Amino acid sequence: MIQNIDIEHLNKTFKGASAEKVLHYFLNEFDGKVTFASSLGAEDQVLAHMIAGINKEASIFMLDTGRMFPETYDVLARTNSRYGLNIRVYFPDSDRVEEMVNDKGINLFYKSIENRKLCCHIRKTEPLQRALKPNDAWITGLRRSQAVTRTNMEVVEWDDVNELLKINPLIEWSNEDVWDFIKKYNVPYNKLHDKGFPSIGCQPCTRAIEPGEDIRAGRWWWEDPDTKECGLHKK
Ligand code: ADX
Ligand code: SF4
Repeated sequence: MIQNIDIEHLNKTFKGASAEKVLHYFLNEFDGKVTFASSLGAEDQVLAHMIAGINKEASIFMLDTGRMFPETYDVLARTNSRYGLNIRVYFPDSDRVEEMVNDKGINLFYKSIENRKLCCHIRKTEPLQRALKPNDAWITGLRRSQAVTRTNMEVVEWDDVNELLKINPLIEWSNEDVWDFIKKYNVPYNKLHDKGFPSIGCQPCTRAIEPGEDIRAGRWWWEDPDTKECGLHKK
């Protein structure tokens, strides 16, 4: 039973271990029951590069909310072609999107946090639940230093909401580590990263940041930093 896995023991085992070692372990031990969630952001591109070197058949998916930047689709295509991957794309339920948009407006998320959470739920969380359903573990590109909401995260966690293991191989990486890796291996990346977008989500909810601003300052910039999680990584 997946619920009986000793997470504390796994975290001790992987303390100081490389991201590749963590990936090797979970891709092998959970073969067919593990999937990697990629937003095609810089961290996820590092992981895609590593995963492609371990198993090109590994399950990888992205959630297409319908409001992504064109540059994100471009890096999706470039990543599949560079590594011979077939990243699976999940879409939101069209009936629910139609109902929400026609009821509350196309850009409802600016009007209230409640609306923003509803939109994230319909466009991201519900498709995520579908993508995760057949799996016992999912891999993410989360890093501790990305946000105040992420400082206590570990390499291996129990995801209470979706009831499976969550593996964060880059949890201890710095932004600099990510970019050193990308440059060293010439990893394809989203062109928006060169235009002041360190963290990229949906187009209407992501803006460029000014030098010196926090790396997630451009995500849902009208909200408080303590509430800025969209439901993918709720505790
Ligand atoms: S978010 O919750 O604020 O949107 P962020 O952009 O920092 O998350 O990404 C953190 C991790 O969540 C990524 O490394 C990836 O594993 C997962 N993720 C975020 N957005 C998506 C997406 N659209 N599709 C698949 N996975 C995603
Ligand atoms: Fe909707 Fe914005 Fe959430 Fe994307 S980030 S799902 S557009 S509220």
